Amino acid sequence: IGRSKPLIVANWKMNMTLQEAREFFSGLTDAPYEHCEAVICPPAPLLYPLKELMQQAGISLGAQNLHEKPKGAHTGEVHGELLFELGCSHVIIGHSERRAAGETDEQVAAKVHQAIGNSMIPIVCVGETQLQRELGLTKEVIRTQVESALAGVTEERSPFIIAYEPVWAIGTGKTAQPSDAQDIHREIRQMLAEKKSIGFANRVPILYGGSVSASNIQELCAREDIDGALVGGASLQAHSFEAILKALR
Ligand code: G3P
Repeated sequence: IGRSKPLIVANWKMNMTLQEAREFFSGLTDAPYEHCEAVICPPAPLLYPLKELMQQAGISLGAQNLHEKPKGAHTGEVHGELLFELGCSHVIIGHSERRAAGETDEQVAAKVHQAIGNSMIPIVCVGETQLQRELGLTKEVIRTQVESALAGVTEERSPFIIAYEPVWAIGTGKTAQPSDAQDIHREIRQMLAEKKSIGFANRVPILYGGSVSASNIQELCAREDIDGALVGGASLQAHSFEAILKALR
C-alpha cells in the first residue's frame, strides 16, 4: 500500500571499515536497481567517503542515528543539518539496540522532528521484546512507540517510515511468520490512520526487520502491508545484499 516499489534499507550497524566498505561496492554487480529502492546506512564516519560510490550505484545514503537537538555543545554527537549536508536522505531512529541503551520515546519524537526539519526521511523502529510478546503486550508496546514517534511529525504531508522489528527476530535467524508480520503491519497502519489520517497511513511505507534474507524477502514483501525491509546481517556482504534485491524482481 505504502509505495509502488519495495524499499530495502541496509543497516550496517557498527560494522565495516572504510576498506571493507569500498570492497562491498566493488562487489556489487547489478547496480543500479530499477525494481526497488535501496538505501544503505553505514556508520557515520563512512557517510562522506562513500557518498560518490553510493551515487554511482544508485543507492541512497542514510544515517543510523542523529542527535535530538540542533547543533550545539554535545560532544561526540552528530546533528541533522550535517547529515543532510553529507547527502543523507534517510535516518534510522529508535533502533531497539539504541532503545536498549536508554533511548526514550521522547528522544525518538525529538529526533523525528529534527530529521524532518532537516529534509530527511525518518525510519522509526518499533517492536516488542520476547518477554513483552510472551506477556501479550505486543500491540500495546508498539502503539506507545508509534504514537509517541508521531509527536515529532507536525505536518500531514511530512515523510515518515516505520520499521517493525520484533526484537526477538533481530540477528537470531528467527523471522516472524509473514502472516504474523502482516497482522502487525496492518495494526500499525491502522494506528497511523487513527492518529493522523487514512491518507497519511496509506502513504507511509512499513518495513519489516529481523533476520531478513534472500530466502524470506519475497514471501514477506508479497503481503499487503509489508512495503520492504530493514536488513542487518545480510546487508554486510555485496552478494547477500544483492541476492535480496534480486529476489524481489
Ligand atoms: O535494523 C536491522 C536489524 O536490526 C535486523 O538485523 O541482522 O536480524 O537482519 P538482522
